[in-house]
Amino acid sequence: MSDWTLCIDFGTAFSKAAVAPTGAWTHFDPATIRPLMLSAEGQNTFLLDSAIFVDEDRVLFGCAALNEADAQADAKRAALRSFKTLLSVSDLERALNTNAPATIDPHRIFQMRDLIVLYLAYLLATIDRALLADPVLAQGGVLRRRYAAPAWRSGDSAGMHNVVVRLFAEAEAFRASVGKRLLSPDGLSLRTISDALPKAMANAEALEMGLVFEATAAAAYTSAGLEGSGSHLIVVDMGAGTTDIAALARIGARTLELPEARVTLKQAGDFLDRVIANRVLESARWARRADERAELWSVLMRQMADIKEAIMADGRATLRNQGRSIALSLRDVEKDEDFREFQKSLQQAYDHALAIVRDDARARGRSEVQAIAVGGGASTPLIQDLIRRKMESTRPRVVPRPATPDWAHAREFRGNLAPVFPQLAIAIGGALAPDSMLAARGGITPPANDQSDIPVGRD
Ligand SMILES: Nc1ncnc2c1ncn2[C@@H]1O[C@H](COP(=O)(O)OP(=O)(O)OP(=O)(O)O)[C@@H](O)[C@H]1O
Ligand SMILES: [Mg+2]
Repeated sequence: MSDWTLCIDFGTAFSKAAVAPTGAWTHFDPATIRPLMLSAEGQNTFLLDSAIFVDEDRVLFGCAALNEADAQADAKRAALRSFKTLLSVSDLERALNTNAPATIDPHRIFQMRDLIVLYLAYLLATIDRALLADPVLAQGGVLRRRYAAPAWRSGDSAGMHNVVVRLFAEAEAFRASVGKRLLSPDGLSLRTISDALPKAMANAEALEMGLVFEATAAAAYTSAGLEGSGSHLIVVDMGAGTTDIAALARIGARTLELPEARVTLKQAGDFLDRVIANRVLESARWARRADERAELWSVLMRQMADIKEAIMADGRATLRNQGRSIALSLRDVEKDEDFREFQKSLQQAYDHALAIVRDDARARGRSEVQAIAVGGGASTPLIQDLIRRKMESTRPRVVPRPATPDWAHAREFRGNLAPVFPQLAIAIGGALAPDSMLAARGGITPPANDQSDIPVGRD
C-alpha cells in the first residue's frame, strides 16, 4: 500500500480533485496519477459543477442544482454559483456570516457560510465515492489532503488558510453525520440539514490540510518529470472567477515563486460570459422590455458554455431564440469596451510578471523562460496570443508550452483526460507538488465562536 496525496481544487465553476503517490514529483510516472471521477453524469466526469440550489424543502448540489434552477428560472429562483470568490474578500468572516439573498434562499435561513459548508460536504462525499470506485485507491493507504487556492491575499495566506480549513472541518463533520444521503440525486431535506448542520459546525474536529497556491500547482505539474530543464516559468491560469499570473524559478530541488510578479485579476470566464451576453442584448433590438431582456439573458446564460466555446474556437457562434437566429463573432466581442479593458490589464499584468521572471533567469545565467496556460480559458485566442507574443529582446527567450502534456494522452486515461487537462492541471499539480511548495500546512482551527484569532486580510 502506498501513501497518497489528494489535492482538491474547489473552483469557481467546477471542482476537481486528483491523487498522486507521495513522492511522485521526483519519481514521475503518469500511470500513477489518479484524477478523480467526481461526476456521475454531466459533460465531463472529471468536473463537478460548483453549484447549490435551495428548493422548497430540500437542497440540491452540482448538476442537479443547475437543472432545477433552470426549471424554476421563471420563478426568479437561482442556484448559488461562483461562491468561491467570496473567499477572496478582505473581511472573510463577515462575508461568510452574510445572509444568502432571497433568489438563492427564499426561506432566509442560510448564511453564506452554511451554503459553502454544505457544498464542501457534498464535494468531500463525491471524492470519497470516487476513491472507493478507483481499483488502486480503494485498497487504502494513508491519504494526505491539500487544497488549491489563488494567492488572493499574499500577505495573509495563513489567515485565509485557517478559515478555509475550518470550513472543510465543518463540512467533514456534516458529511460524517448525514452519510450517503448527501449524494442522493434528490438532494438533502431541509429537515436533515437543520438537524445536523449546527451540531456538525459546533463539533467539527481539527483537520490536517495543506494549502498550495494555484499557480504553484500549475508549475509543479509542468515541471514534473522534467528535472533539470525549465528552470523559469510564467503561468497564466484563466478559470471562471479569476485570472492568475505567477512566475516561478526552480533553483536546485526547490521551486520558488517570485512573489512580486504575481497578479490576480478578477476577470475571467464568468466575466467573458457577461461581455458576450451584453453584446447579444445590444444587438437584439426586438428585446426592449425589461422582462424580454431578462428572459433573453437567462436563455443566453444557460447556453453560454457552448456559445463561448464556439466563439473562441471557430471565431463565431449562431444561436437561436424564439424563431430568431443571432450571429455573434469573436470580432464583435473584441470590440467591446469592457473586453478591451480586460485585455489591456491582462497584457500589462503578463508583461510585468514576464519582465520579473526574465530578469531572474538572466541573473542566474539561464537562457529560457517557459510560458504555460492552464484553466478553462487556456485555449482561447486571448490567452494563447498572450503566451506566444514575440519578444523584442531575444534572451532569455520565451518558449510557450502546450496546455496538455503528452502524458495526458496515456492509455490509462482512456482519452478522457486530455480534453479537460488544462482544467485539471491545478488538482494534478497540487497532488504532485513536494511539501516544499506548500503555502501553508496543518490546520489550526479556532473554534467557530472565537473569532478573535482570525486576522483581517488585506486585498
Ligand atoms: N474550450 C473553452 N473555451 C473557452 N472557455 C472555456 C472552455 N472550456 C471551459 N471554459 C471556461 O472555463 C471556465 C472554467 O474553467 P476552470 O474549471 O479552470 O475554472 P475554475 O477553476 O472553476 O475557476 P477559478 O480557477 O477561477 O476558481 C468557465 O468559465 C468555462 O466556461
Ligand atoms: Mg481554477
